[in-house]
Amino acid sequence: MKITDTIKEVRENVKAWRTEGLTVGFVPTMGYLHEGHQSLIRMAAKENDRVVVSIFINPLQFGEKEDLDNYPENFEHDRNICELEGAALIFRPSREEMYSKNFCSYVDMTGLTDTLCGKSRPNHFRGVCTVVTKLFNAVNPDRAYFGWKDAQQVAVVKRMVSDLNMDIEIVACETIREADGLAKSSRNVHLNSEERKAATILQKALKLAEKKIASGIRTSRDIQKAMIEMIDSEAGVKIDYVEIVDLETMKPISDIEAPALIAAAIYVGNTRLIDNYIYGI
Ligand code: PAJ
Repeated sequence: MKITDTIKEVRENVKAWRTEGLTVGFVPTMGYLHEGHQSLIRMAAKENDRVVVSIFINPLQFGEKEDLDNYPENFEHDRNICELEGAALIFRPSREEMYSKNFCSYVDMTGLTDTLCGKSRPNHFRGVCTVVTKLFNAVNPDRAYFGWKDAQQVAVVKRMVSDLNMDIEIVACETIREADGLAKSSRNVHLNSEERKAATILQKALKLAEKKIASGIRTSRDIQKAMIEMIDSEAGVKIDYVEIVDLETMKPISDIEAPALIAAAIYVGNTRLIDNYIYGI
């Protein structure tokens, strides 16, 4: 497995593989890899001849008051995971490599980013779209792998790839969870033991939604209300949003029709957690 911090070297490697007729899968990450990331790398290795993993904490997608400065890092651990899952190359650029001094071009999106995380994190998806475009241009993969855990990110990246005619297949992979249902996240390390217990309310509320939909309830408002009541009953937890939207357009729907996204974001102490249940895929 190779490790590089330059776009030039990524291009040289991928070019050489392409000359041999090999396919290339790509897994963009911000590092501090856990089993969720690991499952994406495994899937990419299964479906492609070579896999590139990028590790870059993208400043552009963090808001002013967000956790950019204490975002966790552990490169030795990340390298072991990539090696174990059969990645061929880790691309680990510096901020300077990605954003030159005079950088002033952005990829932005309207519509899809007005709701959910886009609403509470203005400019977040502009940062995601810009960095993902830059990474796609550097790696030039056949397929790129994203987790359903960040369902709005999947919808946004799919839309961008289609709107801008990027010749890349976007593969969405299932959410990997802890034994008690909490979705794996790099941010879980910030939870103390009390907060860690309280955090399970997010998955419990989504399970409640799943059960209600399975029992035939289709009114978004009723399901939203039940979820909000359940989350509010947990001490130390604050709701950012609980929304039910169309999976593709991310627009709120009043009656649930497949495929629908039931998504929630909560603060447990200072840590913001997101999770979702997708109905109908
Ligand atoms: P990051 O949060 O590191 O996540 C990288 C990828 O791992 C994303 O596609 C995310 O959805 C996926 N992932 C995270 N937790 C998961 C879980 N529990 N199960 C399955 N997949 C999971 O998302 C980003 O980085 C950035 O926005 C990025 C796309 C790299 C652009 O900077």
